[in-house]
Amino acid sequence: MPIINEKIIDILFSEEAIAGRNAEMAAEIAAAAPRNLLVLPILKGSFVFAADMIRALYRANVAPEVEFITVSSYGDELTSGPVRLLHALQSPIAGRDILLIDDILESGKTLHYVSHLLQQQKPRRLMLATLLDKPMRRQTAIKADYVGFTCPDKFVVGYGMDAAHAFRQLPFIGTIRD
Ligand code: IMP
Ligand code: MG
Repeated sequence: MPIINEKIIDILFSEEAIAGRNAEMAAEIAAAAPRNLLVLPILKGSFVFAADMIRALYRANVAPEVEFITVSSYGDELTSGPVRLLHALQSPIAGRDILLIDDILESGKTLHYVSHLLQQQKPRRLMLATLLDKPMRRQTAIKADYVGFTCPDKFVVGYGMDAAHAFRQLPFIGTIRD
């Protein structure tokens, strides 16, 4: 178990497990035959997952474009309150297939808010991919089309995800031991 910033991290999902699951998800996405695909990661948490996913898509013969949106929830870091958009899309998405990517689907407020915004621009198809799903935390009716792993009801870090801005660099996903 690695020690980072003097904290012991218990690994939940290893690099190998994540890479294997990414390849499976990319195959599922390819099987949906996306057309004119725009991959749209929600920053910051999903940037590592998205970077690996576009290369997994390459191996599955899918050639997407990539753009980013940034959202932030008010309030503290651990609970997502109301969501606001910090960085908007740079190009129109009408008629396109969109793969919206997030790191964790928890209450669903983030994906609900962003997908509602995007639907107003009339994409041809809006697909939601999340690396981790915490279904026990859901407060909205949202469901992801592609889920990497179901996550235990614990706060996790690594692989792009942070606790107070730290731990994003870990190549695996784990929990901080107290
Ligand atoms: P939701 O809006 O409640 O679905 O929350 C989703 C967002 O909360 C994710 O995009 C993450 O940024 C953040 N989040 C939720 N759970 C965790 C966690 O365990 N670790 C780090 N970030 C989390
Ligand atoms: Mg996030």
